[in-house]
Amino acid sequence: MFGLNKNLIRMDRFVGAGASGEVYEYGEDSKYVVKRIIANNVDEFISIIPEVVLGFSCNHPSFLKLKGFRIEREKKLFIIYIRFPKMKETLRKKLDEKKQIKEKYTLEEIIRNFHVLASVIEYLHHKSIYHRDIKPENILLDDNDNPVIADIGAGKFVPEEELDSKVSKMLGTVNYSAPEIIESNAELTNRDLQLADAWSLGMVMAEMCLIGHERDPSITKQGDKKEYYEDDFEEIEKRYGNILAMIIRGLLKYNLSERKTVHETRKQLESHFFNILVKMGLGEDYL
Ligand SMILES: Nc1ncnc2c1ncn2[C@@H]1O[C@H](COP(=O)(O)OP(=O)(O)O)[C@@H](O)[C@H]1O
Ligand SMILES: [Mg+2]
Repeated sequence: MFGLNKNLIRMDRFVGAGASGEVYEYGEDSKYVVKRIIANNVDEFISIIPEVVLGFSCNHPSFLKLKGFRIEREKKLFIIYIRFPKMKETLRKKLDEKKQIKEKYTLEEIIRNFHVLASVIEYLHHKSIYHRDIKPENILLDDNDNPVIADIGAGKFVPEEELDSKVSKMLGTVNYSAPEIIESNAELTNRDLQLADAWSLGMVMAEMCLIGHERDPSITKQGDKKEYYEDDFEEIEKRYGNILAMIIRGLLKYNLSERKTVHETRKQLESHFFNILVKMGLGEDYL
């Protein structure tokens, strides 16, 4: 059904797992993976449908393409298989390796990753789709280390006509979720959802910029949420200059009226780092 042959799923070749599914290699040539999600009841099954619908409706070179799906029933269970192209690794793995050997990203690499991620998140927002779980585990890297956004499982589509509609809250991942999402139980508007994705992008970029940076223990209280401190922004400034530090800081503003949107951030990157972006060939497709 829908281009997915269950016999080709290689359950022996486990690729990764998150909160909702397990991912295995698919096909003889290992070019694809299959994500298997088990729903225990109809409500759980319904909650998985957005992943398939949003996956099919997003068409951007840096958004993981959904290639097919299949639904099976086994007694009371629904088993959903979703096929995607296989990527090299997650940004999580890359960051952990780099932290281990204390290898920093170059400014060019930071700008390239930042611009690609901002462009794809902006594309989603433009389609009124909010990812809601942007974090290094959900960012995959292709063979050239270009980032690709995956796992729209927590995503929401809120049509423009319903700009004022409130969306019930659902937690992403605490370390990367905006503080207002963690702290409040209020329902969310489109703008809140946009700015929450913006915060998560800021968290990912700050982490990429701070490889090997030990936080001063005197300012890190035990039990603190993982937030960024003055000290961290000073380090980003020292390594990559005050403009990049300023752009990342714009995403990590607690006050929503001060926080930059992803669209504004992409514009800032292009105006300040135009030469780097053009040199890297992010020309016609992205600019
Ligand atoms: N296309 C892919 N190529 C390679 N690894 C993948 C791919 N898709 C997912 N993975 C791995 O599987 C993990 C779980 O996939 P994900 O879609 O994030 O599921 P969940 O919704 O359970 O978090 C990812 O963090 C990653 O390690
Ligand atoms: Mg995931």
